[in-house]
Amino acid sequence: MFYSIIYQSKAKAEFTIAQIDMMLLKAKQFNKTHNISGCIIYNGHKFLQIIEGQKADIIKLYAKIKADQRHENVITLIETSTHDTLWDDWSMAFYKFTGDATKDQHNHMLLDLYFNAVSDHQKSSEVYNILRENVSQLLTSNKQRIY
Ligand SMILES: Cc1cc2nc3c(=O)[nH]c(=O)nc-3n(C[C@H](O)[C@H](O)[C@H](O)COP(=O)(O)O)c2cc1C
Repeated sequence: MFYSIIYQSKAKAEFTIAQIDMMLLKAKQFNKTHNISGCIIYNGHKFLQIIEGQKADIIKLYAKIKADQRHENVITLIETSTHDTLWDDWSMAFYKFTGDATKDQHNHMLLDLYFNAVSDHQKSSEVYNILRENVSQLLTSNKQRIY
């Protein structure tokens, strides 16, 4: 069995893209060595992240993430045991949408490809559906943002 958490949070204003990239590099290394997989989406002001792995590892990591001063208003969207992981290959896939139309469109396409490629069994899971629904909300609200 695995354990999955999806949460949303708000980036602190002073957190720059370069700092986010650095943080994600470190996170990827950590996650890889702890067999944690997942995906993080950043729309310029909010994060949406799924972390999946062994229950004890996920609970420990989530406690650290929640205490991280670089973001706030952390809201858990789902926290549950699962039979399989959605993002097996990824120690932490990162999709950032920051207002560059070409890059954003490309990232959108990659995300859609990934979402469509998972098994039918996974597509019917609650974790998948909560993630998909919230990604689409996050990216819709992104369009209203003025950069
Ligand atoms: C939005 C967000 C997502 C994060 N995701 C991860 C992650 O997936 N893996 C990770 O190791 N750290 C992640 N971090 C960083 C952790 O909060 C923390 O800084 C890191 O685990 C190092 O903690 P330590 O120095 O206490 O060991 C994230 C931070 C933020 C703000």
